[in-house]
Amino acid sequence: MNRQEQPQRVHFLLSKLEQIVGPEGLVSAPEDKRQYDTDWLKKWQGDSCVVVRPATTLQVSQVMRLCYENQTPVVTQGGNTGMSGGATPDGSGAQVLLSLSRMNKIREVDALNNSMCVEGGVILAQVQKAAEQVQRYFPLSLGSEGSCTIGGNLATNAGGIAVLRYGNMRDMALGLEVVLPDGRIWNGLRALRKDNTGYDLRDLFIGSEGTLGVITAAVLKLFPRLTTQATAWVGASSMSALLHMLSVLYEQCGQRLVAFEMMSAEALDLVLQHVPASNSPLQGQHAFHALIELADTHTDSLTEMLETCLEQGVEKGYIDDAILCMSLSQRQELWKIREGISEAQVRAGHCVKHDIALPISALDEFVVQASAAVSALSPGLRLINFGHMGDGNLHFNVLLPGGLGSAEIKTWTQTLNKAVHGLVHQYQGSISAEHGVGQLRRDELRIYKNPVELELMMLLKQTLDQNQIMNPGKLL
Ligand code: FAD
Ligand code: MLT
Ligand code: ZN
Repeated sequence: MNRQEQPQRVHFLLSKLEQIVGPEGLVSAPEDKRQYDTDWLKKWQGDSCVVVRPATTLQVSQVMRLCYENQTPVVTQGGNTGMSGGATPDGSGAQVLLSLSRMNKIREVDALNNSMCVEGGVILAQVQKAAEQVQRYFPLSLGSEGSCTIGGNLATNAGGIAVLRYGNMRDMALGLEVVLPDGRIWNGLRALRKDNTGYDLRDLFIGSEGTLGVITAAVLKLFPRLTTQATAWVGASSMSALLHMLSVLYEQCGQRLVAFEMMSAEALDLVLQHVPASNSPLQGQHAFHALIELADTHTDSLTEMLETCLEQGVEKGYIDDAILCMSLSQRQELWKIREGISEAQVRAGHCVKHDIALPISALDEFVVQASAAVSALSPGLRLINFGHMGDGNLHFNVLLPGGLGSAEIKTWTQTLNKAVHGLVHQYQGSISAEHGVGQLRRDELRIYKNPVELELMMLLKQTLDQNQIMNPGKLL
């Protein structure tokens, strides 16, 4: 589209979109669009041609059909909390931003089938609440749960703090409803746990980051409500020692082990520095810390079980100190520290993030080597290492010194990514464990992904999105 054509086409598109969603479904003023055009980290700034907010699947379908016929690119957005720039449009002013924010209905809760059918724009915390109301539990839990949406969770295959027990978002979905790039609706809203009738299309759309279709609804699995919890904070002198503690817990607590969240001393310090009213849970210095949680569906004393494990951990030298939570408020304080890391990083300055996964058995060696590689680059770099250690997922982030210009930040980012991801690749890990590829890791995907896998992915993209309108410039 050349510059003279653009205003006419935009005018045509806007009037057609308004016919579909009504004036209340369009956001076109630049000051109103800004919050959609900028990501949570304020790292990417786009400029959409318009934000369209359909209220029904039929409207999504009509919007997609119109965009398909006019070869207009579409960027789907849920809660806009993604960490890889996947929901931010480019700066061309030509992309339509399709927000699911009005598609926020819980369609059905079926306690007997342990399932719930919700629209793509429903906020995760609302799903958790709705499950509680029928004495059930929806286990996906993220720091962003008050804003992120089920559609976004599915599109990024979100992880979070309970993957250890329940798996990723992929493991919590039974069926999907998807609007395809040409506007056709695929109704795959099956509430079944067994269905071997061919290729698994559901799994194709989960983790596709808005590049294959718009997830307008999903049937989610519900689980038994957890009625007892035991929470502890431990300090250890090395990653290897902490891994042994994890192993003891896994052996002795089995499925009751819900969370094992690690943070280095530097990550904890960052929270203490930037999150008001946060205090260090333990006295003394420990190189690594972990927040551990057991949970169960009946009222056996989990606290005693956890206490026994921790005693063994101390005896064997796996941990140097520990506290067991004795009240709900104490538990909340500990989780506040853990959940405060993302915000603390934003306040501290520019962080070069690495959301990586490794075999759990390789974590120790990797961290020793990668830490040495980062320190060797410059003493001014601060390593903020934390993450979902029980899943082998580290947020191996590096805080840059203050006062750098954008060119220096770019050079540091490239250097650090090469050093850290090169090592991840050597250990057969993943350069995106839970945050997705988006625009952040798109170029690196070409370096690290197996070429046959990449080719198959491109073939699928070409087949499903022939006009290449779904989230161009992201993932592939
Ligand atoms: P968005 O950011 O709006 O979109 C993300 C991607 O999904 C984009 O590519 C977008 O195009 C696509 N998309 C969104 N909705 C749809 C849809 N309906 N159909 C098709 N494509 C769609 N993530 C984790 O995995 N684990 C964590 O522990 C975690 N912690 C976080 C903590 C904080 C404080 C923050 C801010 C973020 C955290 N995240 C975490 C990242 C983020 O919250 C998740 O990636 C989340 O799943 C994104 O959901 P969203 O609705 O905000 O999606
Ligand atoms: C988290 O686990 O808190 C987020 O996924 C990590 C982040 O902010 O990088
Ligand atoms: Zn995380």
